[in-house]
Amino acid sequence: MTHIASWRSPSNIALVKYWGKHGLQLPNNPSLSFTLSECYTDMTLRVITGSSTPQLTILYDGNERPAFEPKIKSFFNRISDTLPWLTEASIVIDSLNTFPHGAGIASSASSMSALALCLDDIDRQINAITNPLNHTQNLDRISELARLGSGSACRSVFPVAALWGEVSGVKSSHDRYAIPWAEHVANIFKDYQDTILVVSKAEKAVSSTIGHELMSGHVNEESRYVQARQNLLTLIESLKSEKALDVFISVCESEALQLHALMMSGKRPFLLIEPGTIAIIKEVWTFRQDTGIPVCFTLDAGPNVHLLYPASFKGSVLDWIKTNLIRHCADGLFITDEVGSGPQKL
Ligand code: PMV
Repeated sequence: MTHIASWRSPSNIALVKYWGKHGLQLPNNPSLSFTLSECYTDMTLRVITGSSTPQLTILYDGNERPAFEPKIKSFFNRISDTLPWLTEASIVIDSLNTFPHGAGIASSASSMSALALCLDDIDRQINAITNPLNHTQNLDRISELARLGSGSACRSVFPVAALWGEVSGVKSSHDRYAIPWAEHVANIFKDYQDTILVVSKAEKAVSSTIGHELMSGHVNEESRYVQARQNLLTLIESLKSEKALDVFISVCESEALQLHALMMSGKRPFLLIEPGTIAIIKEVWTFRQDTGIPVCFTLDAGPNVHLLYPASFKGSVLDWIKTNLIRHCADGLFITDEVGSGPQKL
């Protein structure tokens, strides 16, 4: 029997970062992210169940990409207890991202969350035949499936914002899946802007998989997890009101710099920022000081800079980017994104 599911799922940008894990993609500290809007993956999954010769075909924009196979196969192995039909299925995955490869936007977050949504959709199609009432969409489960594909992907399944990892005092927070955080954020954050300045399109020298590993035994390991928890609690408070933007800014920037400081100070130090990254950070600080516009930056595991600011300042910030910052961007590339409403069935 053939089943088809198509989903659009966005990337996300962490404000408090997940960096260090244990077990099967379980985080060593909680993290909180904004869900993006324009940076997303569209995916179609075609599954023929009960196949005697199961096959996996991975397409990107219609062209075969066998390089992705090992990662997808190990993901399918991890989840075959939950989705037993996977072991006897012929599967075609076809996806397309809206953002360029190497733009420093977490494509694993959007693609693995899209895949988790498609798998859950197909699982419900299969089970509806035997048990029509028992299968409604369950975002905890989808988030958990996405986590097993790529940790940060578990936060992409919720609109606006998501919290991943157990936090004492936060009911239902969990290490196994993210929880929705939209109802805890002030309106100003619901269309917050994220303009991504692409400093370099080069492939990362060190993958986040290795970066997570290098946290084990890091000289700052324990203090990092303590500080991440404190930053998370401070961030949660600051998100409740538009009056605490100064606190929001200091947590975001401290987290971004700390992530990269951890990379630079481990047993095997590495550096993902570029001179352009530092030049932009300095310009952000000067611009904020001079204009009072509450723009701040965050960084992912790469050199590209995410500028975060309220939508009401979009015109002024984009003018400033075009006159002052574009010279630091590879081929003048920047991507205008904002907080978004989460995945969509296509
Ligand atoms: O999901 P991973 O394993 O690619 O790790 C993501 C790590 C950061 O992007 C640097 C931080 C985060 O919380 O998204």
